[in-house]
Amino acid sequence: MAIRVELNIDEVAKEVAVIIAAKAEEASKKGRPLTIVLSGGSTPKALYRLLAMPPYREGIDWEDVHIFFGDERCVGPSDEESNFRMVQLSLLNDIEIPARNVHRIQGELLPKEAAAKYEDDIKASFKGFDEDSGGFIKDGLPVFDIVLLGLGSDGHTLSIFPNDPDKPNENGLASIDESGRFVVDTDGPGTSSRKTGSPDIRRITMMPALVNNAGFIIFMVCGKAKAGAVTRVIDGPAEGDLDSPEPPASRIRPKSGELLWLLDDAAASMLD
Ligand code: 6PG
Repeated sequence: MAIRVELNIDEVAKEVAVIIAAKAEEASKKGRPLTIVLSGGSTPKALYRLLAMPPYREGIDWEDVHIFFGDERCVGPSDEESNFRMVQLSLLNDIEIPARNVHRIQGELLPKEAAAKYEDDIKASFKGFDEDSGGFIKDGLPVFDIVLLGLGSDGHTLSIFPNDPDKPNENGLASIDESGRFVVDTDGPGTSSRKTGSPDIRRITMMPALVNNAGFIIFMVCGKAKAGAVTRVIDGPAEGDLDSPEPPASRIRPKSGELLWLLDDAAASMLD
């Protein structure tokens, strides 16, 4: 795991843009597309806007980039809560990327149908690749080149929120990893103890098992409000906090890929 601290969100965005451009170049040299999973929320908007401008708009061959989403709210693509809409407005409308390369989660469908269809789309996108052909399948799961993640102040990531210990996930699964599926529908952040801005909308999310198979996982986290969650995930629970449940973001542990925390000064301010 690596931690890089930058002055502010714009500097964080620049760092990530450079990594994406380099990985796109690497994939192109291997004659294959770059597969990247984008995060929702507000933090990555600065990155998406940067990628939509020179030198990245023209410098990256978007024909050879496949964009996926780590999670989505169960709303239509034009809904203001939609992560797809946020990425469309901040990036997709300004780059030359074929529609077939953008793998939208169909949040307008019933949650379980949306999750199943998205999982099928991911499988179809990685069809024909396997470990022998040096493709993107490892242990039976797709290997995304890059996964971008955000972090909530409650320690959530993707749409995996801290569960009330006595209330297993509505899917009837104490831990959604047990289902064996790599895309599920989950409760929204709720309006109880969680600080996440979104109202109580159901979500579709990739699961840690899939994300942990990726080649490069990047947490982009900015702002003082996240400092507590950052240190809880990176440094572990504080002395008096040992029996509190593990934050969902702590379940992001790459199997063989790289994990990079890209933080601004404020989000890093409580790290040991
Ligand atoms: C979402 C995201 C979510 C987000 C965090 C941080 O759908 O909202 O996937 O996990 O990354 O809540 O959000 P901010 O960047 O807005 O703080």
